[in-house]
Amino acid sequence: MKFFVDTADVKEIRDLADLGLLDGVTTNPSLIAKSGRDFFEVVKEICDIVEGPVSAEVTATEYDKMLEEGRRLADLAGNVTVKVPLTLAGLKTCRTLSQAGIMVNVTLCFSAPQAIMAAKAGATFVSPFVGRLDDIGQDGMQLISDIVQIYNNYDAIRTEVLVASVRHPGHIVDAAKMGADVVTVPPNVLKALVHHPLTDKGLAAFLADWQKTGQTILGR
Ligand code: E4P
Repeated sequence: MKFFVDTADVKEIRDLADLGLLDGVTTNPSLIAKSGRDFFEVVKEICDIVEGPVSAEVTATEYDKMLEEGRRLADLAGNVTVKVPLTLAGLKTCRTLSQAGIMVNVTLCFSAPQAIMAAKAGATFVSPFVGRLDDIGQDGMQLISDIVQIYNNYDAIRTEVLVASVRHPGHIVDAAKMGADVVTVPPNVLKALVHHPLTDKGLAAFLADWQKTGQTILGR
């Protein structure tokens, strides 16, 4: 399963990329607003740091404008993935950009029928938002299970399931069990994946015992 980070914070992205654990990045207009920076500048900077796909979202709602914006964003770097909303205009834009060889992430997916339409439009990725479904009392992960099952029924579907709106490590474990292709995760959740109290306790005990031996590994 590929790991994308869901942020427009360049410092966070650089730190995670340095760990060698990052396969891509997703941004959205809210994350760009939160960064307080120029959209194009941030996207270019992220694309220089990360080799994998970097999602940058269009903000127009009509096909012609969306397409123009998508092309403009795709021109920024070879690894830009144009993000379009799951609307009829978004799907039409997706089809045109995909046919031109540009990667497209169809975002704001909240149902299996929508995911079927994204695949039909030739999306590189579809982004079902699990956390936002959980927030309204629905089962976000059930949607992932349904989409993975549907896509697996058709060899012709190349669209990858990109689990978005991830809120906690449990979402990631479930996504992996279901065979989702990608998870996009906020930096704090990504770091939380490695934490376990018994790891901390065990490490402290090992180091305390090691110190008693008076030995060092490097001092030989
Ligand atoms: C995905 O591409 C979105 O940017 C993101 O996962 C949305 O998450 P949120 O529901 O926490 O805003």
